Amino acid sequence: MPASAPTLALRSKLPATGTTIFTVMSALAQKYDAVNLGQGFPDYPIDPALIDLVTAAMRAGHNQYPLMPGVMALREAIAVKVERLYARRYDPDTEVTVTTGATQGIFTSIQALAHPGDEVIVFEPAYDSYIPAVRLAGATPVALPLTFPGYRIDWTAVRRAITPRTRMILVNTPNNPGTSVLSADDLAQLAAVTRDTSIIVVSDEVYEHMVYDGARHESIARSAELAGRSIVVGSFGKTFHATGWKVGYTLAPREISAEIRRVHQFTVFTVNSAVQHALAAFLREAAHYENLPAFFTGKRALLRGALADTPLELLPCAGSYFQLARYDRISDEPAAAFARRLVRDYGVATIPLSAFYQDGTDHRVIRFCFAKRDETLRAAAERLRRLEP
Ligand SMILES: Cc1ncc(COP(=O)(O)O)c(C=O)c1O
Repeated sequence: MPASAPTLALRSKLPATGTTIFTVMSALAQKYDAVNLGQGFPDYPIDPALIDLVTAAMRAGHNQYPLMPGVMALREAIAVKVERLYARRYDPDTEVTVTTGATQGIFTSIQALAHPGDEVIVFEPAYDSYIPAVRLAGATPVALPLTFPGYRIDWTAVRRAITPRTRMILVNTPNNPGTSVLSADDLAQLAAVTRDTSIIVVSDEVYEHMVYDGARHESIARSAELAGRSIVVGSFGKTFHATGWKVGYTLAPREISAEIRRVHQFTVFTVNSAVQHALAAFLREAAHYENLPAFFTGKRALLRGALADTPLELLPCAGSYFQLARYDRISDEPAAAFARRLVRDYGVATIPLSAFYQDGTDHRVIRFCFAKRDETLRAAAERLRRLEP
């Protein structure tokens, strides 16, 4: 051991953070040669045309630092797409910032705008990066439970939780892991509770194209009032099935974007230039994102149909590429134990919803990812048919 080790007196900034459930379940999936419907990433190839565009961008010489807020062609393409879908024009020059995935967009937004002493309202079950990002900013996370089993926001509870110190409210629609979506009424409620306050809304909309059954995605960008105090975060990793590329963006009014960029330039400074050029070109074809609801509706139907004759109780899925299931008919063990048993004895990896609550709230629910090849979904369901009540 190096001689200096005993004197380092390390003080962790995230002492409660251990190995995430995603790593644990993926390791178990490998160990038991399981079908992995745990972590949220596709196991099918991306569009070869997108790969060709990246190659072409590299050959064209786009291999050096691009502009700090992002390649202009991509910022313009994002602004065009957002205006087309949500009827709001963000200025590519001052209001659109390309980030290293949505995760960095969210992290940077929180670091830029939440201060020690500030409170940030988050809803649980929560995507796992939110609360650590709030803590690293020195701010205080205020976790409110989504209702169960609908995973909706309880606006009375939000009103009660708002204090003069509330600086930010973080929403996520479509919701991971809740699979619910915000309605136009939710947006009206959000506008009402933040009216005449200095609260900033961070809206994680990485699953914007995974909204089903004819519903439309209620982006915060649709509301003039909310857009004026909000940061909308998107991800090409989710939209174009390339989670490993880590390119996302933030949309926010000029003053808010200026603060985001102040922090962005010292965290990553810039994002992969060739991929940005490729995405700008790929976005010109609206079909590349317009076909997503139909594509994922098919996957959702396949998984739900294949699981229908198991004793799992499938919850409704209004959005995202996840399917939730209750297993009360099978067992009363905690979700983490049940998920471990599924991977060990049945060869299917899932994620227990209790992992998305700081206090481990356990409604006995597990999450399946259906962004997988049809064969993968069928193989998982086949194995789960052995489940008995
Ligand atoms: C709700 C939510 N937000 C953000 C992300 C991260 O997106 P990115 O890979 O673009 O950082 C994910 C990924 O699973 C997610 O589920």
